[in-house]
Amino acid sequence: MGYSKFDFGEDFHWGVSTAAYQIEGAHNLHGKGMSIWDKFVQNSSKIKDGSHANVGCNFYEHFENDLDLIQEMQIPNYRFSISWSRVLPNGIGEVNQAGIDFYNRLIDACLERNITPWVTLYHWDLPQALEDQGGWTNREILNWFEEFATLCARSFGDRVTHWMVLNEPMVFTGAGYFLGYHAPGRKGMSNFLSAMHHATLCQSLGARILRNELEDAKIGTTFSCSHIDPLTDDEKDVAAANRFDALLNRLFIEPALGLGYPLDDLPIAKRVEKYMLPHDESLMHFDFDFIGVQNYTREVVKANWMIPYMKGQIVNADERKVPLTTMNWEVYPQSIYQVLKKFDTYEGVKELVITENGVAFPEKVIEGRIKDLDRIQFVQSYLNQVLKAQREDVNVTGYFIWTLLDNFEWAEGFTQRFGLIHTDFETQERIIKDSGRWYKRFLQSAKVRNLVV
Ligand code: GAL
Repeated sequence: MGYSKFDFGEDFHWGVSTAAYQIEGAHNLHGKGMSIWDKFVQNSSKIKDGSHANVGCNFYEHFENDLDLIQEMQIPNYRFSISWSRVLPNGIGEVNQAGIDFYNRLIDACLERNITPWVTLYHWDLPQALEDQGGWTNREILNWFEEFATLCARSFGDRVTHWMVLNEPMVFTGAGYFLGYHAPGRKGMSNFLSAMHHATLCQSLGARILRNELEDAKIGTTFSCSHIDPLTDDEKDVAAANRFDALLNRLFIEPALGLGYPLDDLPIAKRVEKYMLPHDESLMHFDFDFIGVQNYTREVVKANWMIPYMKGQIVNADERKVPLTTMNWEVYPQSIYQVLKKFDTYEGVKELVITENGVAFPEKVIEGRIKDLDRIQFVQSYLNQVLKAQREDVNVTGYFIWTLLDNFEWAEGFTQRFGLIHTDFETQERIIKDSGRWYKRFLQSAKVRNLVV
């Protein structure tokens, strides 16, 4: 590897990311209300290994120790999310002071260790009480989200300067309200389009609230994005790839930038108009300080007239003879370069931060050590592509690894280990993997040119 962290610039934000439901545990402790994920995992057939995250990594009780490990690895920025039902057990109304106190302690503990907290308002764990009233498909969510965002800004904004409104709206609306793979497990086009539109409105609404409450805050939001290639040059495959690109990469960012929904390239979304009120188009827009790019892989698409709506499909990576992760995602570092270049072409994008990138590979603990060289190589190769984009004048200003600890990987349960730190879910013992040791050396040293850990 022929670069060091200094090649990315003095002010580049190096970090690590997590999400509340995936690590906190303490699902019903100290007044926390039920979230859609607490409910969804009760049906164990929905989760690959039948597991749940009621305890998970128990970050709720181990956070000081875990922040010590972040400090030990010399990672200067830590991204986490607020569990809505921990601070507002019913989603609105009565505040759970114990929940507010937890996040206050967490934020203070970050600051004491010189770790800058980056807070995501919503990382998929809607209060079940709100889902019972329609969740993201109910336009009332604009009022509910306003209450939650205002509470977070007023409770934590005196110390938190970096905010993200939503985590990957495409995934929580697509997997949660169209395919039913994720909580709350609802399906169908009308659920999807209404959830999608309300999430788009909340994305900018949440940002406006943060801006009004916290003048100096840096405000962003995050998007899942993958470079998309057609399987062949056949015009049908190319057209299908364009539709998938509009769905997976453009649907949420374009309205935020004031460009409206990409309906010309995604005619199936035209019915969203049914859920739109006269001024919505302008309400969807917000001048974000930064855009969070979350990239893991690329997708390859082929036309298939039998598939409803999209008339095309993603060709699974294991059918393409390419290097694979245990998620069955292709290792394809150029994808992160391509999405950075693509987002950089939007006039309204000021700054890009990689808010998630990482990998799960098979791994073993041998004599107390995890030699995850393949993760180190993965990160190095993706970082190389980030640097390439930066050298071509893309304003990318940060990189956060997904993730701190092995944790609950949504519908994959505990079958996927993405952490820089190994978690023993029985004993809660943590072991910094070789990749965590490498990240530390990378962050502390002037030049790391090889894979020595
Ligand atoms: C993202 C998500 C994370 C994590 C990661 C790895 O889509 O934001 O919570 O699960 O993928 O799959």
